[in-house]
Amino acid sequence: MVTLAVNDREYTVEIEPRVSLLSALRDACGLTGAKRGCDQGTCGACTVWVDDRRVLGCLTLAIGCEGRPIRTVEGLADTAADGERLHPMQEEFIQHDAFQCGYCTPGQLMSAVALVHEGHATDDAEIGEWMSGNLCRCAAYPHIRAAIRDASTRM
Ligand code: FES
Ligand code: FES
Repeated sequence: MVTLAVNDREYTVEIEPRVSLLSALRDACGLTGAKRGCDQGTCGACTVWVDDRRVLGCLTLAIGCEGRPIRTVEGLADTAADGERLHPMQEEFIQHDAFQCGYCTPGQLMSAVALVHEGHATDDAEIGEWMSGNLCRCAAYPHIRAAIRDASTRM
C-alpha cells in the first residue's frame, strides 16, 4: 500500500513498486487530468508537481512520492488566491484560445504556472525555452506564450 497526498487529499492505493506516478494518478487515484502522451519523457503531457516542482509523471516512480505533496491540474485552481475561481493561468488560456484539442493542456498549465514561479517568464524567448518540454501537436504555441505573458502579471 502506498499513500499519496494529491491536491491536499490522501489516496491510499495498492500498486507495485514499478508503477509510475502518472499511472498511479490516472489508474489508481482516478485523476485523469495528467495525460499519457508518449509515456517516455518527451511530450510533457504528464507534467504534475511534486514538492511544488514540475516533474514528468511518466518518468517518476509513484512509490518515491509517498509523503510528498503532489499537485495535478485538478487541484490547480485551489492554489489561486480565493480558491473559488479558475487559476489565472487557466483563465488566460481560455482568453487567448491557447489550445485546440486540449490534450496537452493539463501539462502545459502545470508547466506554465511553475515556469512563472521559477522566474522564467520575462519574455517570449525565455518562455519558449522553458516550455520546450511541453509539446503541442496543434501548434498553439503563440497563444500559449501570450497566455503565460498575461497570466504572469496576475500571479
Ligand atoms: Fe510523460 Fe510524454 S507522457 S513526457
Ligand atoms: Fe492539441 Fe496541444 S492543444 S496537442
